Amino acid sequence: MTFDPATEIQNFLVFGEFGDVNPSICDSSTYTFLSVGKMEELFDHEIEGCFLYSRQFNPTNKYLSMALARMEDGQWAQVTSSGMAAIACTLMELCSAGDEIVAERTVYGGTYALLANLLPRFGITTRFVDLRDERTVRAAITPKTRVLYCESINNPLLEVADIPMLARVSKNCGLTFVVDNTFSPLMISPLRLGSDVVVHSMTKFINGTSDCVAGCVVSTHEFINRLTNTNHGPCMLLGPVLDSIRAANILKNLHSLHIRMRHHSRNALYLAQRFEELGLPVHYPGLERHPQHRLMQQLMNPGFGFGGMVAVDVGDRLTADRLMTRLQEEKVGYLAVSLGYFKTLFSAPGHSTSAEIPEEERLKMGMSDGLIRFSVGLDNDIAATWEVINRCLNELGITRRDATRLHLELGVAEGEFAGVG
Ligand SMILES: Cc1ncc(COP(=O)(O)O)c(C=O)c1O
Repeated sequence: MTFDPATEIQNFLVFGEFGDVNPSICDSSTYTFLSVGKMEELFDHEIEGCFLYSRQFNPTNKYLSMALARMEDGQWAQVTSSGMAAIACTLMELCSAGDEIVAERTVYGGTYALLANLLPRFGITTRFVDLRDERTVRAAITPKTRVLYCESINNPLLEVADIPMLARVSKNCGLTFVVDNTFSPLMISPLRLGSDVVVHSMTKFINGTSDCVAGCVVSTHEFINRLTNTNHGPCMLLGPVLDSIRAANILKNLHSLHIRMRHHSRNALYLAQRFEELGLPVHYPGLERHPQHRLMQQLMNPGFGFGGMVAVDVGDRLTADRLMTRLQEEKVGYLAVSLGYFKTLFSAPGHSTSAEIPEEERLKMGMSDGLIRFSVGLDNDIAATWEVINRCLNELGITRRDATRLHLELGVAEGEFAGVG
């Protein structure tokens, strides 16, 4: 059955205190009780409609959580003060000292640093592998493995995870399968494809206005209750609380997410096709030549396109720096990290959002210093934008020949990138 997450969100009506269509923002850290007994009871277990302290639950955050649970077709959700908080709290709940995580080798740089540098201090270690190959995944799993972790569309190479295959492996081995769905909200529904937990950085497409940092976890009632448990829940005890005013804004922005995603995707496909025509190595799952194009077609919910992210390899760092500087001067967008904004954002992951990953590993993945990641904006006239980009490319003499030569020097076989999209 086709699932339409946008309609799920659209049909989530909240009647505010005064019949207000935007529910009143609950601006309180603490809540009164008419009896001591009721307060005691709430320390013990959740009571519908009762709130104790906003580090645990806040009514405004709860409305946003309910909308997110509907979007992901999950039972329940918890919003957090950042995407990293959502990831860290999830993994800390699932793992203890001595446990292992098997993670996709290409993940957001901050996630990589959490897994490679911070969690080992608490005895939790990670094996980074190429999750596209089932045999490699199975070979990496040991009796100590607790979690399988990936991004639905990974940052920044835009490889698409085979979520049903990974879910099968995870279930066979008794693991919890966690998917970061930041790059593909609405487009992919990991819980419906078999994952156990979904995390998002809402800082990106979900909020869409680049004015706050926020995250969420969507899963079962049982798992969210574990995260918020007063005695041992990481969300409760590490305390990454989302401010209720921010939560109210994100809820409002969430209602236009489907329109934005469709437009981001339309513009991104247009630019990806133009880059491809020029013969530049381009990564975009909407291109027929992308290695997981067919898989993506099988996994995606219809109507939202292939996403707003495109990565293009211009060969080397200097060329990438020059191009990004020119694109900003020509008002194509901002030289900035992050994604999901109305204006195009671009950065070179090797020296920004993926800098935490050692250079040797980056090169092995095919992430060269010349890779530029674009979060394509909501331009009304994307053809006009392309004319400007094309002029900048010509000005700097960026041709396929240059990219090919540099890649061969780096030891990357031509087929490896010529076929990527
Ligand atoms: C895929 C992905 N997951 C998680 C994060 C972290 O999110 P936040 O910056 O909201 O903590 C990012 C940030 O860029 C990301 O790209």
